[in-house]
Amino acid sequence: MTRTRAPRELRLRSYAKVNLGLEVLGTRADGYHELRTLFQTVDLHDDIGFRPTRKDIAVVCAHPAVPEDETNLAWRAAEALRRYTKTAGGVEIHIEKRIPVAGGLGGGSSNAAVTLLALDRLWGTRLGIDGLQPLARRLGADVPYFLFGGTALGLARGDEIYPLRRQVKAHLVIVDPGRPVSTAAVFARVDASLTPRENSNTIFRFVSRDLEGKEAFPVLANDLERAALEEAPDLARVVGRIRDALVREGALLASLSGSGSSYFGVFDDAERARRAHAALVSRGFAVHRCRTLSLDQYRNAWTHALGYDWRGARK
Ligand code: C5P
Repeated sequence: MTRTRAPRELRLRSYAKVNLGLEVLGTRADGYHELRTLFQTVDLHDDIGFRPTRKDIAVVCAHPAVPEDETNLAWRAAEALRRYTKTAGGVEIHIEKRIPVAGGLGGGSSNAAVTLLALDRLWGTRLGIDGLQPLARRLGADVPYFLFGGTALGLARGDEIYPLRRQVKAHLVIVDPGRPVSTAAVFARVDASLTPRENSNTIFRFVSRDLEGKEAFPVLANDLERAALEEAPDLARVVGRIRDALVREGALLASLSGSGSSYFGVFDDAERARRAHAALVSRGFAVHRCRTLSLDQYRNAWTHALGYDWRGARK
C-alpha cells in the first residue's frame, strides 16, 4: 500500500471491549495478577479528534467523570510517545465519551491505544504496531490489546496478546449499572478467594474449538465477578435483575466485563438481542446494543482512518 503524506488532523473511533472469559491464575511478583482472558471488541465507541499543536498536550472532554489533566490515559499516551521519540510538537485531543467510564469496557485503555496510533501517524514518528507495543504495556494492562482488537487471548497481565483464528460473531447487549467499581479493589479482593487453577481449562476449550458454535459460550466465566459483587453489594442487587432479563431472552452467555461494573449478554440472534435490550430499557437501565468487531474489521478501520498500512511505516 502506498503511503500518503501525514494528514493535518485525525478523527478516529475508539472501540470498547468485553472479556468473554477471564481466569485469574495467581499473583505475580510485580503485584499484578496472572491472567488468561478472552478479549472481544464491540462496535460501541468513543470518537476522538487529534489536532497537532506547536507545544502542549491538551485533552478536552465534556464528560464529568473524565479528567482533562495529565491523569487522563490519552494524555499519558501522548506524553509517553513524545518523550520516547523526542518529538517537539503537541496535540489537542477531543474525546466524545460514549463508552461507560470505569465500567470494565476498556474505554480509557482504548483511548490510549488510539492516541498512540494516531500520533504515530500525525507526528510521523513511524514506530508502527511493534514499536508502540512496549509503550502500550507501560500505560496499562489492557492497552496492548487495543493495538489488535477482535477476538484475542490475553495472557500474563492480560497484556500478552494472541489474536485468534476463531473470531466470534455475535450481538451483544451491554448494561451499565452506573455503579463504577475500582479495578484495584476487585483484584485485591480476589486474592482471598483464589484457588489453584491447574485444572481450569475453559478458555483453552473455547480456543481449541473443542466446543463449536453456541455450545462454546456456557463454559466461559469471569473469575472477578464474585469479588466485584462483594466489593459493591448494591451492584449485586441489580446484577441479579440484569442477568435474569438477559437469560430469559436467550443469552448464550451473561457475564460481568473485566472488573465491572458493566454486565453483558451474548446473542446469536439479532431479534433476541433487540428484545433483551427493550426489556432492560423498560426497567430503567442504561443499555447499549452492539455487535462484535472482528480482528479484520478492527484492522480495516485503522488502515482506512490512518490512510496507510496499519502496521506502521516500517514496511
Ligand atoms: O494496568 P491497569 O492500570 O489497567 O490495572 C489497574 C489495576 O488492576 C492494577 O493496579 C492492579 O491492581 C490490577 N490488575 C492486576 N492484575 C492484572 C491487571 C490489573 O492486579 N493482570
